[in-house]
Amino acid sequence: MPKTKDKPKKKNKKADHPTLADIADRYALYGLSVQEPANETEFFTKTYQELNGRDPRILREDFCGTHAVCCEWVKLHPDNVAYGVDLDPEPLAWGKANLQPQLTDEQRHRIALYEDDVRTAAEVKADVLAAQNFSFFLFKTRDALRDYFVQALANLADDGIMVMDMMGGSECHIEDHKDIRTIESDIKGFKKFKYIWEQNRFNPITADALFYIHFKFRDGSKLDKAFTYDWRFWTIPEVNELLLEAGFSIATVYWEQTDEDGDETGEFEPATEAPADPSWIAYIVARK
Ligand SMILES: C[S@@+](CC[C@H](N)C(=O)[O-])C[C@H]1O[C@@H](n2cnc3c(N)ncnc32)[C@H](O)[C@@H]1O
Repeated sequence: MPKTKDKPKKKNKKADHPTLADIADRYALYGLSVQEPANETEFFTKTYQELNGRDPRILREDFCGTHAVCCEWVKLHPDNVAYGVDLDPEPLAWGKANLQPQLTDEQRHRIALYEDDVRTAAEVKADVLAAQNFSFFLFKTRDALRDYFVQALANLADDGIMVMDMMGGSECHIEDHKDIRTIESDIKGFKKFKYIWEQNRFNPITADALFYIHFKFRDGSKLDKAFTYDWRFWTIPEVNELLLEAGFSIATVYWEQTDEDGDETGEFEPATEAPADPSWIAYIVARK
C-alpha cells in the first residue's frame, strides 16, 4: 500500500481562517478612504447659489459608482432629486444594498439610477452635473473628452453647472510612488487599515498614467489592486479649453484656500493663479 494513502489531507488554512483581505468589502473601504460626499454636495450647493442666486434641486452624478453623492443629495432637502449614471452594475448594486438603507423611503424614491454610458442623453436636465474623483481622466483624447463635455452640456438645465474635480502637481508624475495612509473605521475587524495609493507608471510622452489603490490589513493580508486607474493626466488649461470648445460659456477653477500656517482649509474659491503645489486637488466649474 503506498505510504501516502492514509496521509492526512493538508488542512485548507484559507477556508478555515479567511484573511481580512478575503472578507474585505472594497467599496466600503474605498468610501472610507477617498469619498467625502457631504463636502461635495456642500460645494455644489454653495457654488450654484453664488452663481444663480437660488438653490439647485436636480443633481446628475456621472460616473456615480456607489452613488454616494446621490444618497447625500436627497438628504439635504425634500425637493432634491438625484440621477446616478454608471456603466458598471456592481457598484450601483452595492450602493443600493449598503447606502440606500441609510435613507428613508421618501428619500430613496428621489433617486434614479441608470446603468448607462455618461455620454447618453438625459431624460431630465440637471442643475448640477457632477463628475467626481477625476473620472473623466479615463477619456484619453481631446475628441473623446470634448464629446463627453458636449453631451454633459446638453444634459444641463438652463443656468446649470458642471462640476469636476481634478488632481495634479509634480508628485503625480512620479513613478513607483506610494502614498500610504492609516484609515480608522467602525467596521468590525477593520478598525484600522492601510490605504495605499500607488502611482505605478506615468508616461510623459502621452501623459498616460496607471495608478492603483491597494488595502492592507492588520493580519498582514492585502487586497492588491482593489481599484485600477488607467488615465490620461489632463492639465487644467487643456480641460478649460475643451469645455469652451464644447460650448460651455465659462469655465472657472476653484482652488483650495490655505490658512495663515499654510494648511489647506477645505474651502475652494475662484482663482486664476496658484502656487506650484506638488500635489493639488481643484474643482473646475463650467456654466452652460
Ligand atoms: C473612479 S470611479 C468613480 C466613482 C465615484 N464617482 C467616486 O467619486 O468615487 C469611475 C466610475 O466610472 C464608471 N465609468 C467608466 N466609464 C464610464 C462611462 N463611459 N459611462 C458611465 N460610467 C463609466 C466606472 O464603472 C466607475 O464606477
